[in-house]
Amino acid sequence: MPVNIRGRHFLKLLDYTPAEIRYLLDTAKGFKQMKRNGVPHRYLEGKNIVLLFEKTSTRTRCAFEVAGRDLGMGVTYLDPGSSQMGKKESLADTARVLGRMFDGIEYRGFDQSIVDDLAKYAGVPVWNGLTDQFHPTQMLADLMTIEEKLGKLKGVNFTYMGDARNNTGNSLMVACAKMGLNFTACSPKELFPAPELVETAKAIAAENGCTITLTSDVEAGTRGADVIYTDIWVSMGEPDEVWAERIRLLQPYQVNAAAMANAAPGAIFMHCLPSFHDTKTTIGADIAKKFGINEMEVTDQVFESAQSVVFDEAENRMHTIKAVMYATLC
Ligand code: CP
Ligand code: NVA
Repeated sequence: MPVNIRGRHFLKLLDYTPAEIRYLLDTAKGFKQMKRNGVPHRYLEGKNIVLLFEKTSTRTRCAFEVAGRDLGMGVTYLDPGSSQMGKKESLADTARVLGRMFDGIEYRGFDQSIVDDLAKYAGVPVWNGLTDQFHPTQMLADLMTIEEKLGKLKGVNFTYMGDARNNTGNSLMVACAKMGLNFTACSPKELFPAPELVETAKAIAAENGCTITLTSDVEAGTRGADVIYTDIWVSMGEPDEVWAERIRLLQPYQVNAAAMANAAPGAIFMHCLPSFHDTKTTIGADIAKKFGINEMEVTDQVFESAQSVVFDEAENRMHTIKAVMYATLC
């Protein structure tokens, strides 16, 4: 059956079928080829999009901006301080105003209900650029990168180490279940994904011939993995007070040489970025001073190793976001 997602929102991967995700990945592959070969693709000339960011960003913002311009669109960026949203104007009113001017709206911020509400009122496609619960555009880049590096998605053994109930952990579990990768969350029990989401993912995985496993055993969780993935231990929007507890819980789940050595031969290391793999950031330096650790979720050695594909992953944010905008606006 031909896939058509024109006019759809992109709020979370749970809303998309494997065939629709496959279509987005194939579309992204085509755009990457065109970009590499210098072939113009201004297919959305004359359209305009707005990017609403209530949290900071490097990759997501730049990916939407460059992808939007490559497609020929006008791009407007609104940061938290420069719009009326929330302070003087309700979300519903903001959505209805923006929907009258723009052809598509990207939102990065807090609760998933905010992006869901924007979608309800905007009347144009709304794309989730990260909420507290989900980060769906990141997933497309991750799947694209795995396929490029390992030549397949189905049957890949994927291990996520760290805070498995954050936006990235939740989304990776769903992405793997949809596309046939065996997903293992390797983290302390306190940071396992919510039971309802695990049950949903398990049901989807069963349909797609793959498995969902939760373990707190690092040796078992990393054994034979084709992909080891991690994310920062404290996410945007969480209070500084959680650092001490998070470090205590997650230090055993750091991606280091031992974890990579226990993985499959040819395993790759992935991270959505930004990453605390040294003390060259203000937060990294501050944590080093307070807690005496120079690396957090991944060692500098693994981050800089030949197994690390993090910058290919970052580049693929742009190609995949371009595919989402094209497919929903064309
Ligand atoms: N991975 C990711 O979303 O990066 P940014 O926070 O820089 O957008
Ligand atoms: N879990 C991280 C992802 C950043 C891309 C955060 O929400 O801060």
